[in-house]
Amino acid sequence: MEVFRSISEIRQAIARRGGGRVVLVPTMGALHEGHRSLIEEGRDLAGEDGVLVVSIFVNPTQFGAGEDFEDYPRTLDADSRICEESGVDLIFAPLAKEMYAPNPSVKVIEESVTTHLCGASRPGHFSGVCTVVAKLFNIVRPDVAVFGKKDAQQLAVIRRMVHDLNFPVDIFGVETVREDSGLALSSRNQYLEAETRKDAAVLRQALLAAEEKFIRGERSVRALVDAATNRISSVGEARIDYVEIVNNDTFQPVEEIQSDAVMALAVFFDGTRLIDNIDLNLKDCLSSLD
Ligand code: PAF
Repeated sequence: MEVFRSISEIRQAIARRGGGRVVLVPTMGALHEGHRSLIEEGRDLAGEDGVLVVSIFVNPTQFGAGEDFEDYPRTLDADSRICEESGVDLIFAPLAKEMYAPNPSVKVIEESVTTHLCGASRPGHFSGVCTVVAKLFNIVRPDVAVFGKKDAQQLAVIRRMVHDLNFPVDIFGVETVREDSGLALSSRNQYLEAETRKDAAVLRQALLAAEEKFIRGERSVRALVDAATNRISSVGEARIDYVEIVNNDTFQPVEEIQSDAVMALAVFFDGTRLIDNIDLNLKDCLSSLD
C-alpha cells in the first residue's frame, strides 16, 4: 500500500496499476469500523485485478462557521493501518493547498435534493461535499465510488450530481454499522463522554419506534415524527436539530407516506451533532405483515 499527497503522483500510481477497475472510497479519515465496511465492500468491487483507492481529506469547504473543522480528528497513521489491514492499494491524502487553488471561483451546487434536512441546517455544506467529490472523481477517475448510507442525503446528492453532470461513475451505498447499543458509528462519536454516548443510543430507538408505528399502518408523518421526537425528548440533554420524513428519491418532505420514504434526524448531544436515518419502505412493510 502506498500513500500519496499530490494529485500528479496519485494519478501516475493509478495508471501504473494497469487497466483494472478503479474503486474510490472517499473519507475524511478518523476511520472506524463503519469505514472498514466501506473499504471491504470497495475491495470486493475492485476484485483482485482492480485498484482500491481511499481518499483521506478533511475538506474545509463542507464545514460552516463555528463547526468542528479545526477539532475534527486527524489520525493518518492509525487510518493507514486500517487501510493496510483492509486491502487498500493506494491512499490519497492531500493537503488543502493541493486540493484548492487560492481563491477558487467554481463550485458544484445541487439545488433540489439539498433543500431540507442537513442542506437546510448546514448552508453551503453540500456544495462543499459536491465540489470536493467532483474533484476527487476527476483526480482518481474511479469506475465505482462507495459511500455510507448513514448520510442518506449525501448519498442522494452524490447520485444526483453523477446523473446530472454525466460522471462515468457507479455509486454504491453501504449499510450503516452500529455499536451494540444501536448508535451509528461516526468519527464524531469520540467527542462524546461515556454517559452521553450511552444516551445517544436513543436516536436508533426513536427511529425504530417510528418504524414500528409505520409497520402497524401509521402513514401520517406528524404521528411518526411525534413518536420519534417524544422518544428523543426523554433524554434531557438531547437538542433536536430536525426529525423529518422525506421521499426517498427527491428528499422533499411529505405529509402522508404514499411511496418509499426516509425518516432522517440530526440531534445535538453536548454540542456534538449526530445524524441517523431509517428507510420507511411500503414494500418491506407489506411483506413484514405477511
Ligand atoms: O462523508 C464524508 O466523509 C465526506 O462528506 C466526504 C464524502 C468524504 C466528502 O468530504
